[in-house]
Amino acid sequence: MPVVMPIYGTRPEAIKMAPIVAALKKSDVLDCFVTVTGQHRSMLDQVNNLFGIEPDHDLNIFEPGQTLNSILARTIDGLEKLFNVNRPDAVIVQGDTTTSTAAAMAAFYHGIPVVHVEAGLRSGDPHSPFPEEGNRKITSQLASLHLAPTEGSRQNLLAENINPASIVVTGNTVVDALLATVEKNVPFKDPELEDLADSGRRILLVTTHRRENQGEGMQGIGRALARIAAAEPNLSIVLPAHANPLVREAVLPHLDGLANVLVTEPLEYGEFTRLLSLAHIILTDSGGVQEEAPSLGVPVLVMRENTERPEAVEAGVVKLIGTGEDRIVYEVNRVLHDRDYFDSMSKAINPYGDGFAARRTLDAISRFFIQTSPQNVADINLPASELPKNTDN
Ligand code: UD1
Ligand code: UDP
Repeated sequence: MPVVMPIYGTRPEAIKMAPIVAALKKSDVLDCFVTVTGQHRSMLDQVNNLFGIEPDHDLNIFEPGQTLNSILARTIDGLEKLFNVNRPDAVIVQGDTTTSTAAAMAAFYHGIPVVHVEAGLRSGDPHSPFPEEGNRKITSQLASLHLAPTEGSRQNLLAENINPASIVVTGNTVVDALLATVEKNVPFKDPELEDLADSGRRILLVTTHRRENQGEGMQGIGRALARIAAAEPNLSIVLPAHANPLVREAVLPHLDGLANVLVTEPLEYGEFTRLLSLAHIILTDSGGVQEEAPSLGVPVLVMRENTERPEAVEAGVVKLIGTGEDRIVYEVNRVLHDRDYFDSMSKAINPYGDGFAARRTLDAISRFFIQTSPQNVADINLPASELPKNTDN
């Protein structure tokens, strides 16, 4: 059987790869060898533990103060050594982190086919998100199979002359992960959060970590949150802080001692999805949260100037608001107090997937092997798929 190697290193990759790993482990046509880089350490391990994934190989590249180039170099060096003794028939990389692009490069240099999950997202601005827009464009040049979450992302790839036969629209596996996790209604370990959930108070859930927002952008976010907290005593602001010390140093001093602000450590994914579903409004610069919240019908204000995920913006449930302090205060105020506006943003829609993306992913990879190396896969006998062809159906 062909061996495929999922390679991932950060929290969002782990969440989006987990449904694929689960499907691979059950597959009787593909073998799976999970490699993690450890670009994130605690936040990666948290997700693997939750989904019961024990990596077969761990490059353990994490070091405090790591830079983009050190992540790239340590990943490529680690994979070079691994591929020399353990060469898979294909690698799977996810999204746009430096782990994913470094892994795609290392595999490409070894002549190993690259499967790119969540292919074709484009903001059109190489500096935002940085370096993710550049990363995913590089990966698109190296991949043999492009798994696009939406028809829009397929169109972006076609516009860059990617071979149409190598693109499959699968939906985003984040929806598979979300739907499987949120229904568990996981209890919060932090008693303050559990009390808050019981209280029925309105929650403004905030996450921020984007590199291009660090510095002045995050100072503005911190000041805006402090103003909202003071003006809205009946609102509770919850900020699960990213592990990055640069994020904490910029935002947290503004929130010190505010009674209706709760800052937590990064929440385990089950707890976080429950908090997403309980939130009244979500204020974020996260990519994954933009994809998850629309499924739950919670309005999302995105603290960025642009997005590579336009589908939910076009549907009116996600709004781009930038990182300006006054604008954040204004926009939160509007969603809080304009009932019609709130209702218009609270529709539950699923532009990014239907929960079957992992199965389409496996289907596409199996077909890829049949087309490219039929001699190796004579034993692949694909069952007739019961799935719709893509998420547009
Ligand atoms: C990375 C990805 C970004 C993704 C984000 C998800 C790149 C270039 N960026 O950004 O696309 O949106 O992950 O969160 O790949 N840290 C810890 N423990 C952890 C994780 C992070 O201490 O488990 C701290 C470290 O000090 C580290 C810093 O956070 O140096 C930044 O981590 P890094 O992986 O370099 O970048 P992110 O900003 O997390
Ligand atoms: N998430 C989590 N715990 C948290 C914050 C976020 O499990 O405390 C999840 C969230 O549900 C989403 C993913 O982490 O699936 C997003 O990660 P992040 O915002 O760090 O990265 P991005 O998606 O922007 O690349």
